[in-house]
Amino acid sequence: MPEREPVIVMAHSPRSWARTLKQHVIDHGGGRIMASIMAAEDASLDGYDVFVADDTTSFLTPGFVADLQRRGISVVGVYNPAEAEASGKQRLLALQVDDVIEADASPNEFLRVLARASVGSLTYDDPGFSALMADLARPALEYEDPFDGSPLGSERGRLVVVAGASGGVGTTEVAIGLATLLARSGNGPVLVDADDVGPSVVQRLGLPVHPNLRSAIDVVHNRNGDLRDSLIPVTVGGFEVLGGLANRRDWYELRPADVAEAVLELARIRDHIVVNVSSRLEDLPAIGGPARYGVTRSVLALADVVLLVARPTPVGVARVLDWIAEATPLIEATPLIVAFNGFEGGAFKAAEIEAELCHVYQPRAIRFISRDKSLAHATWQGMLPNRGPFLKSLADLSAAVVPSTRARRRIRRTQ
Ligand SMILES: Nc1ncnc2c1ncn2[C@@H]1O[C@H](COP(=O)(O)OP(=O)(O)OP(=O)(O)O)[C@@H](O)[C@H]1O
Ligand SMILES: [Mg+2]
Repeated sequence: MPEREPVIVMAHSPRSWARTLKQHVIDHGGGRIMASIMAAEDASLDGYDVFVADDTTSFLTPGFVADLQRRGISVVGVYNPAEAEASGKQRLLALQVDDVIEADASPNEFLRVLARASVGSLTYDDPGFSALMADLARPALEYEDPFDGSPLGSERGRLVVVAGASGGVGTTEVAIGLATLLARSGNGPVLVDADDVGPSVVQRLGLPVHPNLRSAIDVVHNRNGDLRDSLIPVTVGGFEVLGGLANRRDWYELRPADVAEAVLELARIRDHIVVNVSSRLEDLPAIGGPARYGVTRSVLALADVVLLVARPTPVGVARVLDWIAEATPLIEATPLIVAFNGFEGGAFKAAEIEAELCHVYQPRAIRFISRDKSLAHATWQGMLPNRGPFLKSLADLSAAVVPSTRARRRIRRTQ
């Protein structure tokens, strides 16, 4: 298990907060101060979560801040609130630090802000996780010789399936955020809305409801037309969308096998497909019920990696376990990453949630995605999520799910 309290490096400070914080941590814990540094070079230490420095620190430059953030280290700036027009705070915000705090805040307040800023690096990975990451950087081989397992067929792109452990947990928002980040790292993904219970991707992004999954199925099924004509480009995001059902009452018109075929066809022409599925996956026909929730089941069975989104609460953990019990026959050998979304607590709360889940089930990795007030604004405006805590904590997860293309060979696109 990794360290749960934030591991802190601080810039040497003449202000009293630094001395008080050090003493408080020695007396009461709540964090670990790894070093107090005097120069930029000293920040190259490994193994810390958050860097804290005064706005007046000479080496706190935009390049230095960006460099730390690229390494997954959050930066918290300290300013003097008595200064005219809070100019120290403005300076820090211009440097794009992750958070700011007033120099006269209490040590507890400091630790709260430092823990919050380091949420993106609160992670649990099983020992095979880095191997999984390396594997996902390569295209999948579609067919294998059943006798010796040697590759026979063509390569296809990777399918990342994003599901919710229950409704309304932020599955669609996470899928959109993931597509945005993959596009930024040069992977040009397609985001597919295969949620036949509550399709919402095009509505959320203000895109037309046609063409959509049904058009794509028509192309694939009848072999007429070009699948790419069913995709809607999201120019600002650098990705494409295959929209879901225009009307969710039409769910019975989607045959699970057709959806699976369309998704696989897409993976033949694109490197990464992010599929948003519904949170319902009960096998109703198996118990004599209607042919419902088959789409989620058929897509899950194809996934190269599953990202399960849940609420960061004890009930959220219970839902994750229910979901896993239901999904296991479909995704037994598929890596599962659990993302607790809307997280507001610090390291302590994260550790509790993690312990509760891992006591029963160890996923391939656990991530915490911060609650982000600006997301509500983006939702209303039909905009992509903006730079902020949500995308920042998702960035670590996106790198885990699909490494940047720079490190990988692009698969041949069928033109
Ligand atoms: N990290 C977050 N911080 C703040 N708000 C969030 C966060 N994640 C999601 N939300 C908000 O929660 C609401 C529900 O999100 P979303 O539609 O993605 O959920 P969902 O799981 O896809 O729901 P459904 O079950 O209906 O498909 C949205 O208004 C979204 O903006
Ligand atoms: Mg949704």
